[in-house]
Amino acid sequence: LFAGQTEFLKGVVAMSGLPDPDRPEVCFAGRSNVGKSSLINALTGRKGLARASNTPGRTQEINYFELGQSHYLVDLPGYGFANAPVAVVEKWQRLLKQYLSGRQTLRRAFVLVDSRHGIKAVDEEIMTLLDKSAVTFQCVMTKTDKVKEKDRTKVLDQVRAKLSKHPAAYPELVLTSSEKGQGIDVLRSIIAAID
Ligand code: GTP
Ligand code: MG
Repeated sequence: LFAGQTEFLKGVVAMSGLPDPDRPEVCFAGRSNVGKSSLINALTGRKGLARASNTPGRTQEINYFELGQSHYLVDLPGYGFANAPVAVVEKWQRLLKQYLSGRQTLRRAFVLVDSRHGIKAVDEEIMTLLDKSAVTFQCVMTKTDKVKEKDRTKVLDQVRAKLSKHPAAYPELVLTSSEKGQGIDVLRSIIAAID
């Protein structure tokens, strides 16, 4: 699946702009700066495909990528702190919530969690929304290259404990580093098995 073409399709700013729901899609959600766009680039092997940057609030639209002809990959704006005006942030946060609770062909939401920080209150809010919307979600730990083994274990325990309280959570975590390539193949196979 990932050997084929991945192309940017469009950036969406309102629910009416979503492409026809004609194929399965997976999305990447998470706090600003957690590494969503970088992960899409690592998965597709194309560095500049999704725009990544050190400025929280980089991704401000719902960005659709075509994975061959069979799936959509969806890069979402981050939640939590963003380096953008309040009114603008509120607009895209509203869109984000509408998307996460109302997209019929959304098969799985990957909720990205920084390996150094674990699950925060804003993550819980999104997870509760996904529970209510019956959207299966799976946590992807990001930036594992930035944390030492023993600190990582503590964070993973916290994440597992919190996930156990969310009925829509898929229990298995994926540990990734977009920088070093850890977990990228695993995540590719998970996505390829979704239809
Ligand atoms: P928003 O679009 O602002 O919500 O951010 P995002 O979640 O898309 O994050 P993005 O991919 O833009 O990455 C944010 C910063 O983290 C960038 O400076 C990346 O280079 C860095 N980063 C992302 N993934 C990794 C990783 O696996 N390891 C390390 N060391 N840095 C990473
Ligand atoms: Mg981004």
